[in-house]
Amino acid sequence: KKAVLAYSGGLDTSVILKWLQEAYGCEVVTFTADLGQGEELEPARKKALLLGIKPENIFIEDVREEFVRDFVFPMFRANALYEGQYLLGTSIARPLIAKHQIEIARKTGADAVAHGATGKGNDQVRFELGYYALEPGIKVIAPWREWDLTSRTKLIEFAEKHQIPIAKDKRGDAPFSVDANLLHSSSEGKVLEDPWAEPDEMVYQRTISPEAAPDKATYIEVEFEKGDAVAIDGKRLSPATLLTKLNELGKANGIGRLDLVENRFVGMKSRGVYETPGGTILHAAHRGIESLTLDRGAAHLKDEIMPRYAEMIYNGFWFSPEREMLQALIDKSQENVTGTVRLKLYKGNTAVVGRKSPKSLYSLQHVTFEEDAGAYDQRDAAGFIKLNALRLRLLKKGRG
Ligand code: ARG
Ligand code: SIN
Repeated sequence: KKAVLAYSGGLDTSVILKWLQEAYGCEVVTFTADLGQGEELEPARKKALLLGIKPENIFIEDVREEFVRDFVFPMFRANALYEGQYLLGTSIARPLIAKHQIEIARKTGADAVAHGATGKGNDQVRFELGYYALEPGIKVIAPWREWDLTSRTKLIEFAEKHQIPIAKDKRGDAPFSVDANLLHSSSEGKVLEDPWAEPDEMVYQRTISPEAAPDKATYIEVEFEKGDAVAIDGKRLSPATLLTKLNELGKANGIGRLDLVENRFVGMKSRGVYETPGGTILHAAHRGIESLTLDRGAAHLKDEIMPRYAEMIYNGFWFSPEREMLQALIDKSQENVTGTVRLKLYKGNTAVVGRKSPKSLYSLQHVTFEEDAGAYDQRDAAGFIKLNALRLRLLKKGRG
């Protein structure tokens, strides 16, 4: 028996690693991904070796470009927001991790995969729907749903008994639980569990506060091709480098903080604090370029399906026919979403202050308040309004 574990190198997944060896007697293969969480990965390798994992069973991969190109960008073409606000930073990373675990399972001949998500949350659903969609016969092990390490104290005891190194600051009294990648950081639990209590400044890890941000605005230009950002201030950048750059700009201007109570797929409400500095800028910029280049019918249809699309990603159905169908529709809409947006970043705010495009549908000749040289006959509007008013007038006449 062999299991591929999504391994961060942290205390929890190290305990899981040992527990898998013990409870299941299985050979463990570890997968550690650089998703841009800003942590060194070599310590995870060292720790895995220390815990008895064979060198050939340790997989460490930099997946940042794949993450942004194949997951974040397609999602941003839809302007996806869950419950009107959440940019889905954790949700969108899970299918990528699941995909890599399955690939490694095939490579190493493993029959099982394991993850460190609890039985209460969304992440377990996202990981496992991904596994099953890609490898229907795979065995899934979710230790949090099975073991009796039900408290922090028991977990630490287990770690100590098995000589798992415990970082001093990780002795189980971390004030909240964190998940991070290139798109966002999330914090949940403990001091954040009271939705009435304002989060302390120390919860925020990748943005300065709007109050501390410069009193002078920063202007940037983001260039798009077919719905994807390709350059900042005239400089072409790869997807992951571009998002990294936007993160720096967002951080410095206090952009992308969100304090939210949301509905988890499993049925409960939870409170989270999210930081999505670059994503918040990208979202505004993308809407800015769409405003100029999308036809109204296309734009409004896209906005109608957006909440459904966002919910599919939130609920873990990335690898599903319905998500792929909507993706095809969204991608089709982006054929002419090309051009440049100028943004003003100021104390937590992202304002679109300019847009231009070779594919622009904006017609100054039609919209101008000045003489329009016969482009538009204002008299046509009278009939347009009269026919639209017909049923309203009949209604009033007939019913009073
Ligand atoms: N509530 C957010 C979501 O469902 C964030 C989850 C954070 N996950 C974590 N393992 N800390 O997408
Ligand atoms: C977890 O339960 O592991 C984190 C929270 C979530 O998945 O929603």
